[in-house]
Amino acid sequence: MKDIVVCMGKSCGFLGGVEILEEVTRKTGVMAGQTNEHYSLKTSGCLGYCSYAPNMEVNKKQHKAVDPAHVAPIIHDDNPNDHLVGTGQKTDPNANLGAEEILDANNFLGDLS
Ligand code: FES
Repeated sequence: MKDIVVCMGKSCGFLGGVEILEEVTRKTGVMAGQTNEHYSLKTSGCLGYCSYAPNMEVNKKQHKAVDPAHVAPIIHDDNPNDHLVGTGQKTDPNANLGAEEILDANNFLGDLS
């Protein structure tokens, strides 16, 4: 059983969370709030690492800056040690954004409120 959580918070929802949720449903056959013999799919109001949006978790493992094309490998854990980002590049999962990137993200989100 894989417990999948797709973030639908403000940042993730705006930056592609809906498309991620739709792709997860296509790949698993499970809609948000449902469970079948292999998957449980839930949504979150915020997973707590908004600056990497859109984000999802599988069995509590974080997947940041997810692109719909990454959903199948993430769900099937084809690359268990890799964290894929929206550019298709693989990054160090412990890498932090620089201060300038965080400021840009905060300014962007501030414009939305
Ligand atoms: S809104 Fe998705 S991690 Fe915060």
